[in-house]
Amino acid sequence: MSTHSATHPSDKDSKGGTRRDFLFLTAGAFGAVGAGIFSWPFIDSMNPAADTLAMASTEVDLSPVEVGQSITVTWRGTPVFIRHRTAEEIEAARAVDVSSLRDPQTDEDRATKPEWLVIVGICTHLGCVPLGQKKTDPHGEFGGWFCPCHGSHYDQSGRIRKGPAPKNMVVPEYTFLSDTLIRIG
Ligand code: FES
Repeated sequence: MSTHSATHPSDKDSKGGTRRDFLFLTAGAFGAVGAGIFSWPFIDSMNPAADTLAMASTEVDLSPVEVGQSITVTWRGTPVFIRHRTAEEIEAARAVDVSSLRDPQTDEDRATKPEWLVIVGICTHLGCVPLGQKKTDPHGEFGGWFCPCHGSHYDQSGRIRKGPAPKNMVVPEYTFLSDTLIRIG
């Protein structure tokens, strides 16, 4: 109570226990507030709905990406490869006999705008990030990406062509908002 001060004789003599309780409870209350402050963002970030809202889509301006260049963007915590393909790459990707593929998919199905290939940059074998984004990287035997973890080769469409990976690299959902603005997710 406010009428009790820390120096009042009756506090020292008869309320000592109460004072200790008070200090204890105060510390407990502070602890609880601290826990509340620090745990909230953690709980909030673990909330699937909030997480989905924050991470559902990523917009990328493609105008600086020149023909023959690739960029990697992060979407939902995973790398997405975006490649501005050359005419030769498009031609090669579209000339492939789809029935010969392990995971048969046409390039037309994978790249709505042929000059832009957008794929999740994760090897479908055990989840490594394949090489091939840089000009100096190995591109595998089919001119696309190479996963050095166990030797999977992907073509210019990100389709598996050789090695242990069972599936093509995944094409995420995406929409072109303009000629050079893409929204992934
Ligand atoms: S993870 Fe890519 S080949 Fe095994």
